[in-house]
Amino acid sequence: MPGSTHPTGYDLLRNPRLNKGTAFTEAERCAWGLEGLLPPAVTTLALQVARRHAEIAALQDDLQKYLVLSDLQMRNETLYYAVLMSDPASYMPIVYTPTVGEACQKFGHIFRAPRGMYLPVSTRGRLKQLLSNWPESDVRFIVVTDGERILGLGDLGSGGMGIPIGKLSLYTACAGVPPQYCLPIVLDVGTNNQALLDDPLYQGLRQQRVRGEEYLAFVDEFVAAVEQLYPKCCIQWEDFANFNAVPILARYRDKICTFNDDIQGTAGVALAGIYGGLRITGQKLSEQRFLFLGAGSAATGIAELISLAMAQEGMNLTAARRRNALFDINGLLVASRTDLAGFQKPFAQEGPPISTFVEAVEALKPTGIIGVSTVPKLFNREVIGAMARINNRPIIFPYSNPTSRSECSAEEAYRWSDGRAVFASGSPFPPVEIAGRHFVPGQGNNVYIFPAMGMAVFATEAKRVTEEMFIIAARAVAEQVTEENLATGLIYPPQGHILNASLHVAERIAAYIFEQGLARVARPDDVRALIRARAYRPVYSE
Ligand code: NAI
Repeated sequence: MPGSTHPTGYDLLRNPRLNKGTAFTEAERCAWGLEGLLPPAVTTLALQVARRHAEIAALQDDLQKYLVLSDLQMRNETLYYAVLMSDPASYMPIVYTPTVGEACQKFGHIFRAPRGMYLPVSTRGRLKQLLSNWPESDVRFIVVTDGERILGLGDLGSGGMGIPIGKLSLYTACAGVPPQYCLPIVLDVGTNNQALLDDPLYQGLRQQRVRGEEYLAFVDEFVAAVEQLYPKCCIQWEDFANFNAVPILARYRDKICTFNDDIQGTAGVALAGIYGGLRITGQKLSEQRFLFLGAGSAATGIAELISLAMAQEGMNLTAARRRNALFDINGLLVASRTDLAGFQKPFAQEGPPISTFVEAVEALKPTGIIGVSTVPKLFNREVIGAMARINNRPIIFPYSNPTSRSECSAEEAYRWSDGRAVFASGSPFPPVEIAGRHFVPGQGNNVYIFPAMGMAVFATEAKRVTEEMFIIAARAVAEQVTEENLATGLIYPPQGHILNASLHVAERIAAYIFEQGLARVARPDDVRALIRARAYRPVYSE
């Protein structure tokens, strides 16, 4: 609580970081001029949490729940995080996917109060000035989007702001990154979404998206301004269109502390699932062969991280990449194909073209198949049957989102493999009972990786985020899956324990950051204690 220049009681109630609402004690009410401004009954934080639980549970509609939570965040930040952290598995789908998608689509219609910063391209040349309007002087974590590829929903312009806001809530709720250091940002470069441009309630710039040199210069100016104002800040790029996401990451990854969760976090969580699965099969990563259905950004990102991790086991990187075969709309990616993009070529196989996925399975005999095609049901009975014939424990990962796009369901994978599949999916599936056996399918949710990465970077003031840090994170996720989890087929830690899981992952990443000399704080004797000491706790200050 502040010292001599204390805000008035009335101000306290309107400052979300300081507000305790009905939990202000009688002594505080008396000392700070709050008497008469609150109903007389003093409640505990626990009772306040219970009140919000009951209010939210009574609502039928997830968007309404989202709005109740966002109003709470504006009013009382501690209580907001106490609610989220009391039941993360239930609240994550409200403050983040899938509900946040609907919130972004309706952003202008449900708008109540601004949060974060909107940086329009029309203010080029003045970004530093705009950024200095932010009230905090020490910003450590920025999640920024240009709103062009919001989840699977496409171009939502400045309505994409819901994503940085929601994602930063998870950095805090799932890994303890203190909220006062976090800043959500939209780079508003226009929108090509005509429905938004025609909507009187749309809040962004009413113009087509800026492209090319002008776009890059704007992003450059943004990065330079952040560097000058907040030299310890990590920038996380979020939901940019692929053709911008990849070059932006390449442009800054070796210059500043930065990462792209869609690319790197996704690969990390898939690798975590594989490490988890290998605990069931008892094999090494370098013994595996993967066949991807899909050869887009998700497939190549995951394939590259797996290859790097295989190389860490002593394998030659080129050989490792060949163990990750890709199959797209035109068949298996083979070296003789003339339509391959540069980022696909390292994974091209020697050998004849193959036009059906099941034939590719038969020919390459993969130990695992990973679906990132956006096309549902392509892991059919024939494919899974073939995988189950070739492998004792076939790895089957249909990662396409949402559920309606999944390459197969959990039940199909277990049923068609006689219960032998090692399964995880992009979207959640409920537990499955087959012939008296109980299976708990895991979800390859990026939330296992990015909040922990954020916490490690925050606590160590890391200079860079490297690929190796995602491999460390993946291993640290997998090592937390218990034997009990594995016995039911679950290869990711349960989401209900996400804070503890993330703190453990953060500790591992932080230890690596210190080892590599990438930290900007002195290495403590006890890295675990450092992470835990820096982690935010949703309790009222005295
Ligand atoms: P993309 O559009 O870049 O790539 C799709 C690929 O699938 C292309 O190579 C295309 O040729 C191929 N494809 C399309 N139809 C096909 C067909 N009938 N047969 C064979 N191949 C076909 O998409 P991106 O960004 O790579 O994402 C793919 C999917 O992965 C999405 O559904 C996304 O939601 C999911 N994903 C899941 C994540 C997770 O669960 N953590 C993270 C990232 C992506």
